[in-house]
Amino acid sequence: MIPFLDLNQVNAPYLKAIEKASLKVIRSGWYILGNELKSFEKSFATYCQAAHCVGVANGLDAITLILMAYDFPEDSEVIVPANTYIASVLPVVYLGFKAVFVEPDPVTMLLNPEKIAEKITMKTRAIIAVDLYGRSCEMDLIMELAQQHGLKVITDAAQAHGAVYKNKKIGSIAHATAFSFYPTKNLGALGDAGAITTDDEALAEKLRYLRNYGSLVRYKNDFQGVNSRLDEIQAAILNVKLPFLDPENDRRRAIAARYLSEINVKDLVLPPGDRTQDDAWHLFVIRHPDRSKLIAHLDANGIQTNVHYPLPIHKQQAFREYQDLQLPITEQIHEQVISLPLNAVLTDEEVAYIIQTVNHFDYPQ
Ligand SMILES: Cc1ncc(COP(=O)(O)O)c(C=O)c1O
Repeated sequence: MIPFLDLNQVNAPYLKAIEKASLKVIRSGWYILGNELKSFEKSFATYCQAAHCVGVANGLDAITLILMAYDFPEDSEVIVPANTYIASVLPVVYLGFKAVFVEPDPVTMLLNPEKIAEKITMKTRAIIAVDLYGRSCEMDLIMELAQQHGLKVITDAAQAHGAVYKNKKIGSIAHATAFSFYPTKNLGALGDAGAITTDDEALAEKLRYLRNYGSLVRYKNDFQGVNSRLDEIQAAILNVKLPFLDPENDRRRAIAARYLSEINVKDLVLPPGDRTQDDAWHLFVIRHPDRSKLIAHLDANGIQTNVHYPLPIHKQQAFREYQDLQLPITEQIHEQVISLPLNAVLTDEEVAYIIQTVNHFDYPQ
């Protein structure tokens, strides 16, 4: 079986270094808000071409803390893509704001800037642009729209570490960018971790308070913050893995390029291949009208796939007050998407076998 993603294999090349770095932290006696975190924040800010990086506990908190830091009025509306993982939207509703769903571009499956404009009202305060599957949203258009209407742009880059948009690294374009280092991500910790990058010094400062009970000096609390810190062991592991993010992304790009040029099946829609070298290719998401049959064919031939995601947010029980929304593009995407295995440890032979097996879907042998 070719697994969709085997974390043991993914981390195997770094295991010795990870063990050494973790042991160093364990023996140091300093586990929270220490030098490993400082060092990671500095390196990741540099990597993202951003002025500041603030480590937090996970990607969900990264988005939540950005929204908290902006301190929008109670009745605010936040524009979100209808096609995304639930974590992009949960922070909006937790904080009591209205999530305004926007249909994706049917080709890129990302937030459609043309559709944002018609959703902007007097109450709109922010746009959450999700770089889903590892590809940047159309940031020029989104930033321009935001500027015209005085809105903040928050990028959810949980799936897009190392992606590039018009020669700029993701993490340096939006007013604030949220990252997750969940173990399956392009840059994955061995537990939960997240970060925020921004060029806004005041925002970064406030985020440092908010992640630590609203405090920078022990027992002095200037804001009503939360506990959301990136711990020293995870930071040390991320310090080990960060230098390998670019080579790993390059391997993903090479595999994606092969899939794009060699997969050819009637009615199967490939992701757009116009920015192969800029995308981080967190996921390789194809579409087929008979998804279950294609999944069964791949499974029968020893290839594990995944679906990102099977049910749109507005159809989830947790979002039942949004269930009457008419979002046909989003719904069709959720019915058709299949993610093929794509990770830096796939061998050329496995890639060739995956391509061959997908192509045999038309003409099973
Ligand atoms: C698009 C997106 N946003 C946010 C998150 C949340 O990240 P975390 O699991 O670290 O909270 C994830 C991943 O889980 C994600 O894929």
